[in-house]
Amino acid sequence: MSVDTLTAADPIRLEVALGERAYPILIGAGLLERAGEWIAPLLKGRRRVVVITDTNVGPLHLPRLTAGLAAAGISVDTVTVPPGEGSKSWAGIADLVDQLLDLRVDRGTLLLALGGGVIGDLVGFAAAITMRGVDFVQIPTTLLAQVDSSVGGKTGINTKAGKNLVGSFHQPRLVLADMDCIATLPPRQLRAGYAEIVKHTVLGDAAMFAWLEAGGGAALLAGDRAALAKAVRHSCETKAAIVAADEREGGQRALLNLGHTFGHALEAETGFSDTLLHGEAVAIGMVQALDLSVRLGLCPAADKARLVAHLVACGLPVDQKACGGPFDPATLVAHMRLDKKAKAGELTFVLCTGLGSAIVRDGVPESDVLPVLSEAH
Ligand SMILES: NC(=O)c1ccc[n+]([C@@H]2O[C@H](COP(=O)([O-])OP(=O)(O)OC[C@H]3O[C@@H](n4cnc5c(N)ncnc54)[C@H](O)[C@@H]3O)[C@@H](O)[C@H]2O)c1
Ligand SMILES: [Zn+2]
Repeated sequence: MSVDTLTAADPIRLEVALGERAYPILIGAGLLERAGEWIAPLLKGRRRVVVITDTNVGPLHLPRLTAGLAAAGISVDTVTVPPGEGSKSWAGIADLVDQLLDLRVDRGTLLLALGGGVIGDLVGFAAAITMRGVDFVQIPTTLLAQVDSSVGGKTGINTKAGKNLVGSFHQPRLVLADMDCIATLPPRQLRAGYAEIVKHTVLGDAAMFAWLEAGGGAALLAGDRAALAKAVRHSCETKAAIVAADEREGGQRALLNLGHTFGHALEAETGFSDTLLHGEAVAIGMVQALDLSVRLGLCPAADKARLVAHLVACGLPVDQKACGGPFDPATLVAHMRLDKKAKAGELTFVLCTGLGSAIVRDGVPESDVLPVLSEAH
């Protein structure tokens, strides 16, 4: 189906092919109003769900979802949590699970995560551990969540030792990506999510990168629905295929970390604060990863220049100055060694062998990385 003919009547439907844990991703407009159609078949026993959202998203989108569920005779309890990373914590998960138990959820209760990646990760983890595991549905409302965090089953919380260090793989039963939710997203959050879309093209699809570069990206950021749906679809297809091949990140799922080893170091250095949103860190991190790839003779310098030009054109940061840097290169490397993806302190990077293709390289010597960080990218 062409995205130009996208209507509420026929959302794009993709499948995450994980055998008995397979699930569909629906992408379209007006999906919340019709949520009952897709959610009713997932219910076991009572026609009842618990929606968990945050105080930003609830007032904007919960009424449409509740109406869509009521239309299918599904009753709704709601739990609303504070917005932001603070909810993805031991205190946040304890509070949520207590509230779920107070609502007398049972093994058959379906949880619906209505919100960005914070809500998705938190609710997914609550679903994994409450009553030893209940089903949940992802209803992502940020671009980042629609193109990345809602797909793949990684759930969890942050702890004193770092981000996402406690959690579980727990796949959702369904992902509903409603384009109407994106309309209320602050522009900075929209751009941050866009960085992950760019990532999916840089690691695997040169033609799609060229489409973004030639105006697809600008159209999407300006609110063009067809462009948005095309890009969300592309990202979800890319991630779904990689997750289906390597659910627990034993191999190629690591490609999705392009720009993340560098990016996480910057997030750690800026205290995981609003100074630098995750997607912004990924934008800078991708530039650094391509710089390293160029230095190692893997990638043409012209490809890095194209990436930088496109990110700049889209209003995304491309160097450390955008978040208060340049920072001490040795300190950034120290953050990288502590990253949970670092094995035995070895530096592992996703490198680019030209726009549209990437490889994972273990054991990259620090001496190759330091010049990239000293360049103040
Ligand atoms: N599980 C995964 O595979 C995975 C992948 C990438 C990121 N993540 C996690 O995702 C989180 C980041 O997600 P995020 O960027 O969506 O942040 P977020 O969930 O904090 O949302 C960003 C802000 O936008 C608000 N918001 C959400 N939807 C809105 C809407 N439609 N209109 C207006 N405001 C809205 C939120 O209340 C919040 O203030 C991080 O915790 C990260 O670790 C997880
Ligand atoms: Zn990311």
